[in-house]
Amino acid sequence: MANVSGRDGEYVVEMEGITKTFGEVVALEDVTLRLRRNEVLALAGDNGAGKSTLIKCLAGALQPDSGTIRIDGDVVSIDTPRRAKDLGIETTFQDLAVAGNLTVTQNIFLGREMVTGPNSLLGILDKKSMRKRARELLDDLEIDVDIDEKVENLSGGERQLVSISRTLLSDPEIVIMDEPTSALSVEGAERVLELIARMQSQGISIILISHNLDYVRRAADRIHVLHQGHSAGVIDGDDADQDDIVKRMVGGMPEEERNERAADA
Ligand SMILES: Nc1ncnc2c1ncn2[C@@H]1O[C@H](COP(=O)(O)OP(=O)(O)OP(=O)(O)O)[C@@H](O)[C@H]1O
Ligand SMILES: [Mg+2]
Repeated sequence: MANVSGRDGEYVVEMEGITKTFGEVVALEDVTLRLRRNEVLALAGDNGAGKSTLIKCLAGALQPDSGTIRIDGDVVSIDTPRRAKDLGIETTFQDLAVAGNLTVTQNIFLGREMVTGPNSLLGILDKKSMRKRARELLDDLEIDVDIDEKVENLSGGERQLVSISRTLLSDPEIVIMDEPTSALSVEGAERVLELIARMQSQGISIILISHNLDYVRRAADRIHVLHQGHSAGVIDGDDADQDDIVKRMVGGMPEEERNERAADA
């Protein structure tokens, strides 16, 4: 299908031919991933398949050895996490980074505190505005936690929700979530799935990494499977067959599909 460039194009993210090695380890080889505007795209694959490495290349945490990345049709170089944020990309990483000894509000604003006073560099922390904004953000998402509570006193699920809500502070176009439900109870995971649906209804395009194929099939419009650093195909979420996903996770792209691609190329 022809790709229309720019903000009205079909794809908000196009990662093409991404290769990333760590010394002898080839974590990704010639992987192409496309995220459609306003879709939830799941990234599935066994341990070590390269999922986190791929999204780190999009989040500016790692640099691919080769390949190109387009955002809204424009080729970009995402050389720092700051650059990713400037492009409207927010990420919650697998190794969840929340500061336990800080409050919910302090965590949400960590690294981007609001200040008041005549000089923003020398300004004093605008605690009142930050508490108000944090409360609004959590209310919008129907997350019922005390904004003044220290994060170490929250449950794993509540921490996860705080971490995800933090990504929404900057009104991002794209949100990446690496295993947001892995440490959660059934109920906690349900809240995260509801949150993903709400984010999608607000127009955000989402990449969701999860080992839970049940959640993946429920949340995702499409499922991109990775196998040992290679793409193992993209499946529509609606009629995704669990056996098909597992087969691709374990054995890679089915041979007939590989042959079809070779014939198309
Ligand atoms: N910083 C690193 N240094 C060396 N090797 C790495 C590094 N990060 C990832 N790898 C290797 O790259 C490969 C892909 O790892 P990655 O973390 O992307 O997998 P994953 O699909 O996210 O797995 P999981 O489901 O366990 O999170 C693995 O072989 C891993 O050991
Ligand atoms: Mg990972």
